[in-house]
Amino acid sequence: MPKIVIAIDGHSSCGKSTTAKAVAARMGYGYIDTGAMYRAVTLFFTQERISLTNPREINAALDAIHITFNHNSRTGKNETCLNGLNVEEEIRKMYISNLVSEVSVIPEVRRAMVAQQQRMGRRRGVVMDGRDIGTKVFPDAEVKVFMTAETLIRAKRRQQELLAKGELINLDDIVENLKKRDFIDSTRAESPLIQAPDAILLDTSYMTIEEQVDWVIEQADRRL
Ligand code: C5P
Repeated sequence: MPKIVIAIDGHSSCGKSTTAKAVAARMGYGYIDTGAMYRAVTLFFTQERISLTNPREINAALDAIHITFNHNSRTGKNETCLNGLNVEEEIRKMYISNLVSEVSVIPEVRRAMVAQQQRMGRRRGVVMDGRDIGTKVFPDAEVKVFMTAETLIRAKRRQQELLAKGELINLDDIVENLKKRDFIDSTRAESPLIQAPDAILLDTSYMTIEEQVDWVIEQADRRL
């Protein structure tokens, strides 16, 4: 059977990663969390105190960054590794969420990440989630989904996720963070978050994860 690319873009915290991961598992496809890559770059820039306005420093830092994904067979979870170190937990913390969109607007950062993502998906058979997968990384993706959900619902889901990891964050702060990220992501000059003309809109506000997964698989089945 031919292998396709499934691109899942959309607003922050509307269930993209959870859905993408489950779709990939059911189809026997690879899963690539591109947001995790921008988060890992943000972590490195923070640790190394890289100036976000100095292209020379940024390029040197990007040359020193190696991002990989490791499947932990013991926990069954995917782990993001930065230069060989598991940073999965660290990159999900609020201080990274507060800075990641400002790092993601940097053209040099985008170019490096997009090139790596295109290499990772060159054999197809992948589900990739992010903001610019259907518009920039794989404009020829066979399935393009644009996900959204009501802001308050997204914030509550995010709050539960953070709480499960021991981080108690005020709901208003999460709403602020989501709105700020969506605004920066949608208005940046290079590959902004927009719905590709051929992407199908999916509002997950009142859907369960199972319903979201079934819906995406149905779209994929139509193209296989
Ligand atoms: O998906 P997640 O919320 O983890 O993404 C974190 C941030 O990374 C986004 O808010 C956005 O600024 C950036 N991002 C991006 N392009 C992608 C994926 C994520 O700019 N393809």
